[in-house]
Amino acid sequence: MRMRSVNVDLGGRPHSYLVEVGSGLLSSCGSWARKCLKGNCRVLLVSNPTVFKQYGEEVVCSLAESGFTVETFLMSDGERFKSMKTAEAALKFMAEARLTRTDAVVALGGGVVGDLAGFVAAIYLRGIRFLQIPTTLLSMVDSSVGGKTGVNSAFGKNLIGAFHQPSGVMVDVSTLSTLPEREITAGLCEMVKHGAISGRSLLKQTGEFLASVDRRSLISDLKDQVSDGSKTRKAAINGLSDLIAENIAFKAKIVTGDERESSKNISSRSRKILNFGHTLAHALEKVTSYRYFKHGEAVGLGILFAAELSKSLALCDEKDVNLLNDVVRNVGPLPALANIDGDEVFEAFKFDKKHLSGSLQMILLKGIGKPVIVTDEHIPRATAQKVLKKLLQKWA
Ligand code: NAD
Ligand code: GLY
Repeated sequence: MRMRSVNVDLGGRPHSYLVEVGSGLLSSCGSWARKCLKGNCRVLLVSNPTVFKQYGEEVVCSLAESGFTVETFLMSDGERFKSMKTAEAALKFMAEARLTRTDAVVALGGGVVGDLAGFVAAIYLRGIRFLQIPTTLLSMVDSSVGGKTGVNSAFGKNLIGAFHQPSGVMVDVSTLSTLPEREITAGLCEMVKHGAISGRSLLKQTGEFLASVDRRSLISDLKDQVSDGSKTRKAAINGLSDLIAENIAFKAKIVTGDERESSKNISSRSRKILNFGHTLAHALEKVTSYRYFKHGEAVGLGILFAAELSKSLALCDEKDVNLLNDVVRNVGPLPALANIDGDEVFEAFKFDKKHLSGSLQMILLKGIGKPVIVTDEHIPRATAQKVLKKLLQKWA
């Protein structure tokens, strides 16, 4: 199977790195790690029991065969464990294992594991190197790339963290074969987000891929790929790998231009545009106590709200909004919104506002691939409320 490689070129700075995308890569992760870390050392593998049970042994064996001494720290599975408490436990483990500044952390798992492992790597001994091996679709196309690391706290999600770029990212698409279907849908929603803000070409590629594959059979194809090399299967998996690589390339381009999400940058290439769809998504997650939606699913609905609002503000035409609706329809079922109170959701928008010196910055669209950052004083409240009400009724 073809390998794809994306360079996250941070202006030639030493922390530029490669993202390798392919299938069946885990068994060679040891030699990849040697290349990224320029030699071998001690590594702390951070994972959780769900992922470790599937892939841990293969990764540990490959690292050991390549000369690494491997320590393993398993955090509990779930967003609520992306916390200071878990980070402290990991740091204690690292200190007791006497990891030094030349050692490294390897994250094996989804965004929760990756964010926490990256965070402890960022702060242990003021920063040691780390590698990302993402195993969810969302973490492959989004969280493993770009160097945002962190934990949740009583003040809110992801508010404690650090920018710390990995020294390399290995995306093995075959790990998606064990991923629950809703997690696939969540990752696909983040890919549609990238398509919407990147341009027609990526959105078209995403739309065509989603229309051409049956997601259930894609998952069984991923499972069977080693034993059955039929052409259709290869085409679907190649299509998915290409799409994942295109998404990473887009994210890498944005990160290159605005690595630390400068608050002054409000251009259409600000890193903030990656938050397209997130205003409604965060509010929906908040009013359902972070228990009802997968983050990506909420983003799927958030994309449609932002697009519809853009249309109501005469920024974006109906054709583009319909196109986005067509693509989102094919990501798979999104949770129904019955019993969700529009006023409460509207109130929850303020939560995002608090963190931005009092004004809410929404990412809207002037068309596909034309994101624009608009502050809430330019969005009439009545218009936003009307759009929200209409969509909540439609999605109930
Ligand atoms: P997750 O890490 O919770 O993974 C979802 C579930 O899938 C978990 O139960 C996990 O154990 C399981 N899983 C992972 N890989 C599997 C596999 N191959 N087979 C079977 N099960 C598997 O969720 P996620 O969606 O990957 O990540 C969400 C997190 O990412 C959030 O904390 C979010 O804040 C963060 N995030 C960070 C960034 C960033 O730039 N750093 C960007 C987007 C999201
Ligand atoms: N996921 C948003 C960012 O990386 O900036």
